[in-house]
Amino acid sequence: MLAYLNGQILPRAAATIPVEDRGFIFGDGVYEVWRVVNGQLFELDRHLARLVYGLSELRIAAPEFATRDGILTVAEKLLSGSGLETGEGTVYVQITRGSAPRTHAFPPEGTPPTVYATVNRFVPPEEARARGVSVVTVPDLRWMRCNIKTLQLLPNVLAKQEASERSSMEALLVRDGVVTEGSHTNCIGVIDGVLRTHPLTNLILPGVTRAVVLELARELGIPVSELAFNESEISDLDELFLAGTTSDVMPIVRVNDQTIGDGVPGPISLRLAAALRARIDSDCAAPPYLTSVSTTA
Ligand code: PDD
Repeated sequence: MLAYLNGQILPRAAATIPVEDRGFIFGDGVYEVWRVVNGQLFELDRHLARLVYGLSELRIAAPEFATRDGILTVAEKLLSGSGLETGEGTVYVQITRGSAPRTHAFPPEGTPPTVYATVNRFVPPEEARARGVSVVTVPDLRWMRCNIKTLQLLPNVLAKQEASERSSMEALLVRDGVVTEGSHTNCIGVIDGVLRTHPLTNLILPGVTRAVVLELARELGIPVSELAFNESEISDLDELFLAGTTSDVMPIVRVNDQTIGDGVPGPISLRLAAALRARIDSDCAAPPYLTSVSTTA
């Protein structure tokens, strides 16, 4: 697989950064993950807007790369050079505050950010989707700006590791008794036919998949309530599912030792999973995305 690093395209294994990079030292940066189908980035603009928002909140000057044309130009090169013009993949982008001698305050003005991107092949987890997955609940140990997609993922890493060790696909994070989201997904419940999910606050990442799924639900006439549910209400849920770029809609059939619904993926979850798949396929069936690039890097 190829990578892009500060203006250069090179084999990923050959991409290196200085040890004083603030991403390495402080986790001082942001990242983004796009789904790619047939060489096209799904929901390019929403992911880009979240990246630009994160840069602005962290006061990292947005590089030319963090534009529609910048990302499309690099993605096209990485995807075609990595044999990913067809099929399923992901594009990963990471931007840090750059490299400078270690001191907590920002480096001198003009320190260039480190810009890294790479691509990967992706196999949608269809078997797990058909069966439904188990999740566990763990305390949400994160900071108060979970709406920024920062590189600082230690609480998420520990949560997901605990899930793995308990043979579960994901950890649902619980803050003050409230289910916020998953370690790398949003989560959406169904009670009496109504979708229930945490509102867009500083306590969750505004997931692109979450947004698309809520739009699809409204189009299908499924009512949506952006009202969080408590961990103690999990037993009241008829259905529960994860939503994320690398999970799509993923039905949950077990939380800790508790079975959700009938222990099989519920009808609303399956309907939304199918609607999301159709939306991804139709959006990515457009002519090659390069036709929308107006400038070349
Ligand atoms: N994770 N919540 C968290 C904490 C996330 O890290 C993610 C995405 C989501 C879902 O967002 P989206 O639908 O925009 O992918 C929710 C990415 C995929 C990751 O860390 O790999």
